[in-house]
Amino acid sequence: MGRVAIVTGGSRGIGASISKALKAAGHEVAATYGGNDEAAKAFTDETGIRTFKFDVGDYDACKSGIAEVEEAMGPVEILINNAGITRDAPFHKMTPDQWKAVIDTNLTGVFNMTHNVWTGMRDRSFGRIVTISSINGQKGQFGQANYSAAKAGDIGFTKALAQEGAKKGITVNVVSPGYIATDMVMAVPEKVREQIVAQIPVGRLGEPDEIARCVAFLVSDDAGFITGATLSANGGQYLS
Ligand code: CAA
Repeated sequence: MGRVAIVTGGSRGIGASISKALKAAGHEVAATYGGNDEAAKAFTDETGIRTFKFDVGDYDACKSGIAEVEEAMGPVEILINNAGITRDAPFHKMTPDQWKAVIDTNLTGVFNMTHNVWTGMRDRSFGRIVTISSINGQKGQFGQANYSAAKAGDIGFTKALAQEGAKKGITVNVVSPGYIATDMVMAVPEKVREQIVAQIPVGRLGEPDEIARCVAFLVSDDAGFITGATLSANGGQYLS
């Protein structure tokens, strides 16, 4: 059954793969993005998926952005909180701005988006929410005190909200990727990246489509009994 889905950060990287997978599953997809107009336009030209520009870290921008999507497409039944950034630095070098930027986008952004679709989902007694966390929210990562804190927070948020949504037909889950071949991972210095790949038992980075398929399953009607779960897809790098 086709539903209206929002994918934040949905025009690039893992988000773009998720947007395409949900479209292929028959859903009507709105992909949001924060700043890269060129990539968003290329994505729409390639896929026909509409993009909407707003900052997930800004509550009012999320409210009006979601209203715009609903006006164009109808009530949002699926929300994928995928937008995320890194500002890596060892903690003794990490600035308050690096801390705040990552928490605002990767954790508060999840609140801002979810809060603005929650009442509608409760009223209609149906919803699917999937938040993209990270292996580094589960195991911690040198140089990512900000990112690990936010991504661990996403998991706690999900477990709490799953309990609140259960009686209202809303499932709330996490997909937790390991190291995936995206621009974000390619920005890690090559030497460090080689060391990381050496720690992945399957011996390679993951592919964005491998994460998208996890998301497509969790939003499907088949996954109605799964809520509050964290689905790890990390090539065996961290077993929780
Ligand atoms: N464990 C222990 N020590 C480490 C270390 C590690 N993993 N990484 C670096 N160090 C040590 C270095 O050996 C060095 O030690 P010495 O001073 O004794 O020589 C010290 O830390 C400082 O290292 P650098 O000079 O390299 O410090 P830097 O400021 O230039 O950079 C860094 C540090 C930014 C953390 C860099 O090492 C880095 O980018 N690491 C990768 C972090 C990472 O994995 N990010 C994930 C990005 S992808 C993503 O986030 C997606 C996802 O969800 C998986």
